[in-house]
Amino acid sequence: MDFKVAVLPGDGIGPEISVQGVDVMTAVCGKFGHKVSYKYALCGADAIDKVGDPFPEETFQICKEADAVLFSAVGDPKFDNDPTAKVRPEQGLLAMRKKLGLFANIRPVQTFKCLLHKSPLRAELVDGADFLCIRELTGGMYFGEKYQDNDKAYDTNLYTRPEIERILKVGFEYAMKRNKHLTVVDKANVLASSRLWRQIAQEMAPRYPEVNTDYMYVDNAAMRMIQEPKFFDVMVTENTFGDILTDEGSCISGSMGLLPSASTGESTPVFEPIHGSWPQAKGLNIANPLAQILSVAMLFEYFDCKAEGALIREAVNASLDADVRTPEIQVEGGAKYGTKEVGAWIVDYIHKK
Ligand code: IPM
Ligand code: MN
Repeated sequence: MDFKVAVLPGDGIGPEISVQGVDVMTAVCGKFGHKVSYKYALCGADAIDKVGDPFPEETFQICKEADAVLFSAVGDPKFDNDPTAKVRPEQGLLAMRKKLGLFANIRPVQTFKCLLHKSPLRAELVDGADFLCIRELTGGMYFGEKYQDNDKAYDTNLYTRPEIERILKVGFEYAMKRNKHLTVVDKANVLASSRLWRQIAQEMAPRYPEVNTDYMYVDNAAMRMIQEPKFFDVMVTENTFGDILTDEGSCISGSMGLLPSASTGESTPVFEPIHGSWPQAKGLNIANPLAQILSVAMLFEYFDCKAEGALIREAVNASLDADVRTPEIQVEGGAKYGTKEVGAWIVDYIHKK
């Protein structure tokens, strides 16, 4: 294949982990005879500082013309602590999702045997947990009509039938490819928008007779994820519930620094780590590059390059087994490896394979 990749390093630790993702992408392409070219583009606080817009038009064009976007992270405390700031880095992320029509956010929750002890849950509960959270990403309260004055404020949780159908379809299709168990998460006992979700899911379920579809209220789902994470195979939910549940899901595995994600939809798909920009660690060479590197695996898998994705996963597992780990997951007394060293070890593993 000939991959044209838009690289958006963004803020904080973004640029450091981005380099590792790109190096792995290049190594795998070399190995499998793919051509790859990169175009770098501004986003987030970096783009606000340089051109006054967190998702500039030029970045949008570069993304639109690419086959895939390799995104890192956005966010900077100087905006978090200024409630009067008119533009914020996060707006760049939302603009990217909306403009690229990235309505489906796929966030896998996976555990790594050697990190089970890092999980806040008991090892026997999490060992073997493996599910996908599919979060609707361009609708609901994030994008519905908003109003705010000094005495009153609201956000509208608007969903239309086509928006619900297309995301549920993604859910059913992933369930078909996996263990054929789909959990539709909503709040249909209270919210009209959720009742429409549930109605449409019930209409669609007979088209997927092999899929065991169940329905769960979001409060109950939040509890079940902690009590019995292995219950889930694929869950699908609206934007706001998905935001909350995926943070919960990401900590089950023991380190947020290990989880990648994909956002797909109408235009170029985006692959990014789940964690944020961790500004305090910027430039310290301590951020875990694995989530970014696993995002590259998801990129290949999206294009049906299964062996490429598998090689990256193998290299990542090998690095963990060899205790080549960044500080937050290093075994006690183990050697210290930085962002660059972990990335370089994985690239080397891929070359030698
Ligand atoms: C996420 C983040 C974003 C969201 C923020 C940064 C706008 O929390 O990707 O989950 O709320 O969607
Ligand atoms: Mn979030």
